[in-house]
Amino acid sequence: MNSSPRTSAAPAQPLLDDRPEDGVFRVHRSAFLDPRVFEMEQTRIFEGGWVFVGLASQLSKPHDFVTTTIGRQPILLMADEHGHMGAFFNSCRHRGMLLQPAPHGNRRVHVCRYHSWAYDSAGLNQHISEREQGRYLPGFQAEDHGLVPLPRFARYRDFLFASINPDVPELEDYLGEASHFLDLMSAQAPQGLEFLPGKVTYTFRGNWKLQIENALDMYHFSHVHVSYVELLKKRPLLPEMGGPPPTGAAEGEQGSFSFGNGHAVMWRSRSRASETLLAQRRERFAPHMSDAQLKWSGYGRNLTIFPNMQMVDNVTSMMLRVIHPLAPDLTEMRTYCLAPLGESPEEREARLRDYEDFFNPSGFATPDDNVVYEHSQDGLGAIGAGWTQGYARGMDRSDLPARNPYQDELGLNEAAWTVGPRSLGDETCFHDAYRTWARLLAG
Ligand SMILES: [Fe+2]
Repeated sequence: MNSSPRTSAAPAQPLLDDRPEDGVFRVHRSAFLDPRVFEMEQTRIFEGGWVFVGLASQLSKPHDFVTTTIGRQPILLMADEHGHMGAFFNSCRHRGMLLQPAPHGNRRVHVCRYHSWAYDSAGLNQHISEREQGRYLPGFQAEDHGLVPLPRFARYRDFLFASINPDVPELEDYLGEASHFLDLMSAQAPQGLEFLPGKVTYTFRGNWKLQIENALDMYHFSHVHVSYVELLKKRPLLPEMGGPPPTGAAEGEQGSFSFGNGHAVMWRSRSRASETLLAQRRERFAPHMSDAQLKWSGYGRNLTIFPNMQMVDNVTSMMLRVIHPLAPDLTEMRTYCLAPLGESPEEREARLRDYEDFFNPSGFATPDDNVVYEHSQDGLGAIGAGWTQGYARGMDRSDLPARNPYQDELGLNEAAWTVGPRSLGDETCFHDAYRTWARLLAG
């Protein structure tokens, strides 16, 4: 009988059973339960690699700032007086207090609320209270008292990434061919991408990897979101939001690409977007796009940039979520409505209505997913039931062509892929994330 991994000092068994030669891919239940696994995930994945920290448009004006976390460590992003962006630990050099508690804003100077040490928007120390009377030794006087910058901070298109680990690869190398899909997101927004006001934060009582899986899982949609699908059938669709899909796209295909380093996209060639909406959007971004990008801008895409960022482009609206694990069985989600800068108020309204329809605890679909995560977490606790069977769908490649035409269309060379009818429900697009996860946990 298996002993509970929740009380063991170290994971007693291999967490991943990855034997492609035998057609086997399995993730052990303790991967979702074991506090020691969670600790390693924090140090080796979230605090040990690149993570998404924000959008460039959040720091578009001098002195703009954003606070966030990398793993368990608080971070402060700022634009200095020249607009140059910097990333720092959000911790006063004096006693370590959180320097800036607000989520975002614009401040020329950040003053610690404990003893009023102050820092400018470039992170330089501007004030140490009663420094002259404080009897500081020369060694202290000679020290740098500015905010500590993060070892790595880089921008790719509209997206900002940072790392606490100085020894990560270059960001472009980390993103690899997943960058094609970030290119596509940015190409849809010639003036840049922004978050609309109204960040939503919520938690679910489950492991963060359930969220990684779900966003790449088309298979669950017709099972979990039945009530949403039924609702859509019953109510009239606003033509600018959805309306009838373009003719000839009734069946459509779906597929996935896995890019290495845990990044993957699940796509479907059909969306709810009407011809009216597609034409409206294309008018704005077509001149900035390749033919392939223009075509793919009409395809629904769920993109995961491992480990903490997911974007859902439904075509009708775009959502970006940040995954913030708090415990093996507790995950905080931060979600945003993502939009191109420069849209008309009418377009914005339609985008927001579509976004709020589906996503977040107030939407018609996210609560279903959250209940599924919580019951999954409970059920995964049945260690005695052995390995689950949830990673096998799509592994039979006998009917697939030698080369995926969509791969050539997008100019992808390295990505693993699968493609099939709408009912495919590929589960192989989870594999790369788990292989990356196991590799990073192994150090
Ligand atoms: Fe879902």
